[in-house]
Amino acid sequence: MNRLASADVRLNAPAYVKNARLIEWVGQIAALTQAADVYWCDGSQDEYDRLCQQLVEAGSFKKLAKRPGSYLAITDPSDVARVEDRTYICSQKKEDAGPTNNWMEPAEMRALLQTGRADGTPALFKGCMKGRTLYVIPFSMGPLGSPIAHIGVELSDSAYVAVNMKLMTRMGKAVIDLLGTDGDFVPCVHTVGAPLADGAKDTTSWPCNPTVKYIVHYPETQEIWSYGSGYGGNALLGKKCFALRIASTMGRDQGWLAEHMLILGVTSPEGKKYHVAAAFPSACGKTNFAMLIPPAALGNWKVTTIGDDIAWIKPGKDGRLYAINPEAGYFGVAPGTNFKTNPNCMESLKQDVIFTNVALTDDGDVWWEGMDGAVPAHAIDWQGKDWTPAIAKETGAKAAHPNSRFTVAATNNPALDPAWDDAKGVAIDAFIFGGRRSTTVPLVTEARNWMEGVYMAATMGSETTAAAFGAQGVVRRDPFAMLPFCGYNMSDYFQHWLDMEHKLQSENSNLPKIFCVNWFRKGADGKFVWPGYGDNARVLKWMIGRVEHKAQGEGHFFGISPRYEDLDWTGLDFSKAQYDSIIDADPAAWAAELKLHDELFKTLEFHLPAELKATKQKMQAALAL
Ligand code: OXD
Ligand code: MN
Repeated sequence: MNRLASADVRLNAPAYVKNARLIEWVGQIAALTQAADVYWCDGSQDEYDRLCQQLVEAGSFKKLAKRPGSYLAITDPSDVARVEDRTYICSQKKEDAGPTNNWMEPAEMRALLQTGRADGTPALFKGCMKGRTLYVIPFSMGPLGSPIAHIGVELSDSAYVAVNMKLMTRMGKAVIDLLGTDGDFVPCVHTVGAPLADGAKDTTSWPCNPTVKYIVHYPETQEIWSYGSGYGGNALLGKKCFALRIASTMGRDQGWLAEHMLILGVTSPEGKKYHVAAAFPSACGKTNFAMLIPPAALGNWKVTTIGDDIAWIKPGKDGRLYAINPEAGYFGVAPGTNFKTNPNCMESLKQDVIFTNVALTDDGDVWWEGMDGAVPAHAIDWQGKDWTPAIAKETGAKAAHPNSRFTVAATNNPALDPAWDDAKGVAIDAFIFGGRRSTTVPLVTEARNWMEGVYMAATMGSETTAAAFGAQGVVRRDPFAMLPFCGYNMSDYFQHWLDMEHKLQSENSNLPKIFCVNWFRKGADGKFVWPGYGDNARVLKWMIGRVEHKAQGEGHFFGISPRYEDLDWTGLDFSKAQYDSIIDADPAAWAAELKLHDELFKTLEFHLPAELKATKQKMQAALAL
């Protein structure tokens, strides 16, 4: 790697880089951050191996003896999840960020991050990469050249970010080629916020800023600036920052949807193929659902994965909605993943994986709570401490952090859909929305129309998980599973969804159906009643039956749900009494639930579509009958 010479106006850019705006911007950021070197990622396997080896030598990665091509990284204990309270949408007007986002005036944020404040406080990014290499990471969100895809370039001082981006996106020279001389890209700047004094070396294997973190989006200028964290959605800026927060504003302006949704293909025994996009909040089973294996007893149903976390959905000329997965890999939650909950995922994790914050076994493998097989007698936990079952019993210490993750390329997935990289995307037949609710919300309900579906999605509640900092298990409203990811005013986002109906209906009367699910109802014993995982295919089968106008259901005050006899129970012992306990919509519980919807609507009063309030009133009236 060349040392950056101040006279090098091309900043080490390889000859194939032809985009003057890109080179100029890299120069500006290198100057601001005072990076010691600039390195342009070409996305090759050779480069990936070299950077991983460098991370091994720095002590940041451990090579895993038991899994070829795989590594374990352990973060600083302060840097283990997305930091929603440090995440900002800096639109010109506060009301455009809306009540669910943190907001700061762009000029004030720029002073804080980029230019320095009037009182002389230096900008956080000034000199933030001292002693470090600035990696130029060009990436495409979506199949290269797809009309639904968009390009970004992340400048980061973290080699961990560079190798994760290689697995998570289409990254490297091909993207630069696509940019050509004047192609457009979303600029993303990331630093771990831990500059090194002259000649100093890292004293930690996970440099970050334990106390100062900012994850900042400027929607009007489509820029992302991230400071202080090296982990997940805070640092891999193609994911939540670009593909959801910035892309949702692009979608609003250009007439498409950027959603926190998995996309799956489902093929019936008759060989008919359908596509479903499903939104669940973080750590609520999107990856498991996207890779599920239907029980053999159901007949020859097949599920294939297009994406496990994010969908970009654009109306096609035929009036149907076409979806791509903007990502090229999975950044999934490890704990609880096993051969029962997600066999395809376990197969995917056999090689070429980056694990973060799981435990290391004595024979050089990884382990997490809920993995198959024997619990190891001894391991090194995610904080580098000795861990044994006895210690866990005594102190409650987890071997793996509850938000520990694997990063793996989609191509490792044995259930990958052949169309996963298709530039034109796949036509969506149904949307599913689902929260994690121990009570109240039935197993599955079909909306009778688009409006009712938007209402269900808008008012969705879910119990919080370890994917974000903060208390866990608390019900919070998470509209469309987008609460932490919508880059603009949530009520305007609802309106955008409502407008989509009219836009599509003028071309095509065959709108996707909308369903709401809840796999997480608990019984009096505190245990989940529904077996979930592969058996979710039973619900999927009913949905496809509804799309095909074949399956029956029963209407109730907020939609249509299957009766016991409408689901296929072949091969599963699940009684009607059990089913009744998870399909019912208890009027008293729903009266209380609708009050919570009122509270949400009060918070979102500004620009709240009147149709949503009217739908609530209709539901209330139906409930009173
Ligand atoms: C994720 C999340 O990492 O939603 O996908 O937190
Ligand atoms: Mn997610």
